[in-house]
Amino acid sequence: MFHHLSWWYKLFNKNFNGGHESILGGIVIHCLLIVFGGTGDLAHRKIYPAIYNLYVSGHLPERFAMVAIGRRDKTEEAFRGEAADAIRRYTRENRGTQEDINKIVSRFFYRRADFTEYDGYEELKEYMNILDDKFQTGGNRVFYLAVAPEHFGTIVSNLARCGLTSQENGFKRVVIEKPFGKDLRSAVELNNIITSVFREDQIYRIDHFLGKEMLQNIMVIRFANALFEPLWNNKYIDHIQITSSETVGVESRGGYYETAGAMRDMMQNHMLQLLMLTAMEAPVSLDTHAIRDEKVKVLKAIAPMDPVKASRNVVRGQYGEGIIYGRRVPAYRSEHRVSPESDTETYMAMKLEVENFRWAGVPFYLRTGKRMPAKTTKIVIQFLPLPGILYYKEFNKLEPNRLIIEIQPREGVIIRFNGKKPGTKSQIIPVELDFCQNCAVGEVSPDAYEKLLLDVMNGDSTLFTRWDEVEYSWKLMDGISEVWSRQKPAFPNYAAGTWGPAEADELLQRDGRRWFND
Ligand code: BG6
Repeated sequence: MFHHLSWWYKLFNKNFNGGHESILGGIVIHCLLIVFGGTGDLAHRKIYPAIYNLYVSGHLPERFAMVAIGRRDKTEEAFRGEAADAIRRYTRENRGTQEDINKIVSRFFYRRADFTEYDGYEELKEYMNILDDKFQTGGNRVFYLAVAPEHFGTIVSNLARCGLTSQENGFKRVVIEKPFGKDLRSAVELNNIITSVFREDQIYRIDHFLGKEMLQNIMVIRFANALFEPLWNNKYIDHIQITSSETVGVESRGGYYETAGAMRDMMQNHMLQLLMLTAMEAPVSLDTHAIRDEKVKVLKAIAPMDPVKASRNVVRGQYGEGIIYGRRVPAYRSEHRVSPESDTETYMAMKLEVENFRWAGVPFYLRTGKRMPAKTTKIVIQFLPLPGILYYKEFNKLEPNRLIIEIQPREGVIIRFNGKKPGTKSQIIPVELDFCQNCAVGEVSPDAYEKLLLDVMNGDSTLFTRWDEVEYSWKLMDGISEVWSRQKPAFPNYAAGTWGPAEADELLQRDGRRWFND
């Protein structure tokens, strides 16, 4: 059906990467990408725009094609039209042209298949061989599971049964979206299935936060600056706050969110990743294993959540109706596909202690929630006060020094310190040094999915979650779920458009602190 046509490449490869070092990292390897759930929300919002942006910026391998697998019957033409619409709608900036969109979607193919039926995999295998031949992808394949978690095991087992995971002819890698399980037990079960088919180095458990520019920058800020590293411990730091707040509600994802809640959707993965990067020791090298080894040690140093701690140090919330940006929005319980009596949390805050030499005595406060007044992800490091001898004695209202790492939407670093108010005799005011890396016009960082997709193609799993990170994160969360399962929450307990339930403020007030909402 297809032919090897060298002119075809010449015509279409204007923007493709022919195998040189990419500025996003690594040598780009030719491959076929197979997206299970290819007609779904994630594929349209994130994966296709990411492929397009990689193409426009010259990072996509020259010999590349993508097959979307979906349950619906549709022609290739219809699928390509939808993918092109999604790219136009969700691409991170107005880049490229209609011609570029047409070129990239001409590499997109569609196959209808039921994930649970084995026959479909046999057909798929033949189809992939044809595409391998046409695009000279050398048998290199990336299987991207952008489907509901209950399908992960079935798909992986069927791929193996059909011989699609053999590495004899080209590499085979699997990308698994979160949530990886819903508790430790289910995560272990899932992992057993996946590792019976793929080796750990073939498995890419995605946590898209790790692909964000500023998350990668945390290690650089910490370990490339004499200014910060010597102060990064319990001798100088009072406490650390990690916040990821969103103004959106659950949108069209009520069905999924009801089974997840803020704990499984954000805390177990994205928030703990932020914590690990903030608290880890310097790795011995920038090697994938060295970094992951240090990250997981942070989780190991957190004392398990016994029932007393889980009741005292963890707060959950659910939004009622309220006002966001001047617009009235409904309560969570009135959202589409959400039970009117739902006990699912849309907000979670907790206090953790990392019990090692660096951090003993320094609380980490983490919070995440939907329908909050602002979309922001940031890490606030608050330093201890100096001895109250000179200014502190006289000006006991001095603001503490703070270092703020802004992850999104603003990407930057702010240092807040005290200075003399010009022209006054002795008034001290907070001042700040502000570095913003995405404020200049036209500065848009690559989307996390671009970096992560490219890393999978390059075989670099540093920015993906290793099994033991998943394991320890669930151990921590399971202690909390156990306590929650025994107590019925008094939901809703915060109005949409506010910073969460009063108990979350009390969590810090008890320690003589407050959330940093500026
Ligand atoms: C996803 C969650 O992993 O992260 C969503 O499932 C959440 O509920 C999203 O909205 C937030 O990601 P970002 O990149 O928009 O901050």
